Amino acid sequence: MEEKNHKKAIITGITGQDGSYLAELLIEKGYEVHGIIRRSSSFNRGRIEHLHPDIHQKGPGMILHYGDATDSGNLFSLIYEIQPDEIYNLAAQSHVRISFDIPEYTANVVALGAIRILEAIRNFEKFSGKKIKFYQASSSEMFGATPPPQNEETRFHPRSPYGCAKVFAYDATVNYREAYGIFAVNGILFNHESPRRGENFVTRKITRGVARIKAGLDKKIYLGNLDARRDWGYAPEYVEAMWMMLQAEKPDDYVVGTGESHSIKEFLAAAFVSADLGDWQKYVEIDQRYFRPTEVEDLIADITKIKKELGWSPKTKFEDLVRIMVDADIADLRRTDILK
Ligand code: NAP
Ligand code: GDD
Repeated sequence: MEEKNHKKAIITGITGQDGSYLAELLIEKGYEVHGIIRRSSSFNRGRIEHLHPDIHQKGPGMILHYGDATDSGNLFSLIYEIQPDEIYNLAAQSHVRISFDIPEYTANVVALGAIRILEAIRNFEKFSGKKIKFYQASSSEMFGATPPPQNEETRFHPRSPYGCAKVFAYDATVNYREAYGIFAVNGILFNHESPRRGENFVTRKITRGVARIKAGLDKKIYLGNLDARRDWGYAPEYVEAMWMMLQAEKPDDYVVGTGESHSIKEFLAAAFVSADLGDWQKYVEIDQRYFRPTEVEDLIADITKIKKELGWSPKTKFEDLVRIMVDADIADLRRTDILK
């Protein structure tokens, strides 16, 4: 008989793209999942609603707590109350261009948010004797201007307040591992997408735009720099890598990506073909407001280490990822039409 898993995990950022897929994965593995959510005047649980059918339901599954990455007291009490085996720190102001508008807030959530949790873990481990494993959502944005391919040894040269804040959180994670022996790891994830991707990231903006053009609701998509290149993978596979890092024998840092890069133009071409709309150039206009003061031109992951040491590798190909996202946005619009 399969042994029952009684592990408890805290996920910060559970309402985001990755948080929702990670919660599904951990619940499937038998974890009791504790999600930290922000108070919001509008509903922010759309991605995890299906995991939380009845708030009065008893037993393991998903339990939500109000909290915020900027509130140390709250994070301390939740960690002492829940006594988790694992913490996945996914909370972030994760939009790179917006981080130029709100740099201080971005640094508070992303950089200090990580050290607040690390400090709570250090304190908890010292007083309880119990160990907590910590996953930090680090980013390929930290490599910034350093040319590809990028791996665990590549120099960081961040190009945005978001990237700078992620470098601080990365360094804090390594420092707490070395200074206090905490099982703390960095997953350096390259861009990963899905139908749950936020609507103002370029891939989703394109696939949603394509669906709206096909439905006759819009005529154009307005975009910024189309020459940047990204290593785009499929988000559900990337949360599996996060979990694998915390099950490894020793804590370490890993790059996660596909090893392939494509330009925004290539993404546009694939998305318009996938919806049988033909040439994308008829539908796209450039708008200066979407350019960044400094850009990350090209990201390509070298995933030799995670393949060799943890046996993780990506499965979904670029064209399939684009098709999954376009099909989901078209289906979404159809559903809304039916409801109307
Ligand atoms: P996302 O969809 O933007 O989700 C971010 C999550 O953080 C949301 O749940 C959001 O809550 C929460 N959050 C924001 N500010 C917070 C605060 N002050 N306190 C507590 N929670 C807060 O991001 P994602 O794509 O899932 O990415 C997950 C993590 O991986 C982030 O740290 C991101 O920086 C990092 N990352 C992402 C990628 C990628 O390609 N997706 C690549 C590398 C690293 P609300 O729903 O209430 O806004
Ligand atoms: N968002 C957006 N909107 N990006 C655009 C647009 C537009 O209208 N037009 C062109 N782009 C270009 C950006 O300039 C960038 O070069 C590229 O598309 C990708 O932009 P995003 O999809 O916003 O993602 P990102 O690469 O900046 O950041 C994402 O990936 C990081 C990992 O490398 C985010 O998920 C970060 O949180 C993550 O760390």
